[in-house]
Amino acid sequence: MKSALLLSALALAPVAAQAAPSADITETPAVLPRPATLEIKGAQGFDLSTPLKVHAPAGTFDSALLALKAGLPAGITPASSPQDALVITHDKSLGSEAYALSVTPEGITLAAGDAAGAFYGAQTLLQSVVRDTAGKPAVPSLKTKDAPRFKWRGLMVDPCRHFVTVPEMKRIIDLMAQHKLNTLHWHLTEDQGWRIEIRKYPKLTEVGSVRAESPVIGNRDQGDGKPYGPHFYTQAQIKEVVAYAKARHITVVPEIELPGHAAAAIAAYPGLGNDDLPGFKPRVRTRWGVEDYVFSPKESTFDFLKDVIDEVAELFPESPYIHIGGDECPKDQWNKSPFARKLMLEKGLVDAKGRPDAHRLQSWFIGRVEKMINAHGKKLIGWDEIQEGGLSPTATMMVWRSWDWATHAVKQGNEVVMTPTSHCYFDYGQGAHPKAPFYEAIGGHLPLEKVYSMEPVPGGLTPEQERKVIGVQGNLWSEYLFDQAKWEYMAFPRAIALAEVAWSPKSGKDFAEFSARLARHEPRLDAQKVNYRKADGTPANPQK
Ligand code: ACM
Repeated sequence: MKSALLLSALALAPVAAQAAPSADITETPAVLPRPATLEIKGAQGFDLSTPLKVHAPAGTFDSALLALKAGLPAGITPASSPQDALVITHDKSLGSEAYALSVTPEGITLAAGDAAGAFYGAQTLLQSVVRDTAGKPAVPSLKTKDAPRFKWRGLMVDPCRHFVTVPEMKRIIDLMAQHKLNTLHWHLTEDQGWRIEIRKYPKLTEVGSVRAESPVIGNRDQGDGKPYGPHFYTQAQIKEVVAYAKARHITVVPEIELPGHAAAAIAAYPGLGNDDLPGFKPRVRTRWGVEDYVFSPKESTFDFLKDVIDEVAELFPESPYIHIGGDECPKDQWNKSPFARKLMLEKGLVDAKGRPDAHRLQSWFIGRVEKMINAHGKKLIGWDEIQEGGLSPTATMMVWRSWDWATHAVKQGNEVVMTPTSHCYFDYGQGAHPKAPFYEAIGGHLPLEKVYSMEPVPGGLTPEQERKVIGVQGNLWSEYLFDQAKWEYMAFPRAIALAEVAWSPKSGKDFAEFSARLARHEPRLDAQKVNYRKADGTPANPQK
């Protein structure tokens, strides 16, 4: 449907004048992330002051055409012949997401392994537009053959601590796509708020999406007295965001946190909690940090989780994964709950001395949920605590604490995504910032150069084990990301450095060269009013 509309719109556009070669070009394009190869071939290039004529097979490369239509200075128009045009072709010998782009004064060719490859080739072409010496937009003569290093190139968005609206999600997706990031990990449930509509359990959002108050900006120990919420995504909105991302070659992976970080769900349905404990009184958490309330391992909890996963699986048809969290699950309640203790003994979830072992209970709990996920043809992914008490051989692990966990998991044959606090926590501080409490970070120190320096694959592995490292991801926990302006200030340009870690070859890394390229890229971010952090620590576009 979309392709028919696009092609008819192109057919109605006026035919462009014959392309002339550009005047001399002295400016070098700034392409981020750095392509695997990029050769600039000479001073003259292809003039783009008139609409770019495009010759492409119908319906195959719509995402690339839409990106070019929106992003080129004079847009695009269909070409009846390949002459003086951009010719897009399918080349199976290039892998998924790969492309080869060649620009001469006479024309442009873009060969792509698939639609994603053409889309990424289009992004490179857009980032290659400069001014020639006559001041006209043009692309220099160049040749690039490019493919990603890793298949998971992610950012995690946390709308639970501070909500991220649908238009904001779309803007994040656009910015990710421009930098060839392809996985959006959507952290949808937390102690501080449940943010996804589940039809069978309306109280999850009626009760669980509202907290009584939040910490004030500038003092995490003091409440602001203001109810926060209801804030959640309807199922229609979830579908809208997933479709928007898909059209930009981004897979959205949902996270439903269990067995911990579940206080909002337990506040909505107290029966999900360890309600045999004295003083049991669940509520949506009003401070940052981790809540003691965790799911009870009752059969009725598993029935609930199966229903939730059934609805979630349907809302995210393209995601090969469902993320189950698994991190920071305090074991106090299980160690005290008579029901949980009896269950651990009954199921043999015990330590060497025969005592109940809550770590083994966690592993058993997650194993049951993994079967529910597998029933939908999807795989389980979880934070690295999922290996405490035993890691399922079919789980994928997201490493956030120590690189040793990654080594341990890949040696067992599990795939891992690298997102260590040391290089990937974009809620951490990044150096100088304005004095206002608004610019405070949760802690830590993660400057741009450190992100850029990341080598995701631990040393000492065999080539087969190295291939189990499927990618990297930056995490934007939102306790201190109060709004979109702060989100962008924390995300950019660190997410661009991470995109380069995820996409570009390991060899040829040079922070000074990256920084110079980034400086030439900044006007493009400015044109979109992205509130990135400038090198001196000031916000670039704080007025939004
Ligand atoms: C995490 O930061 N708790 C995964």
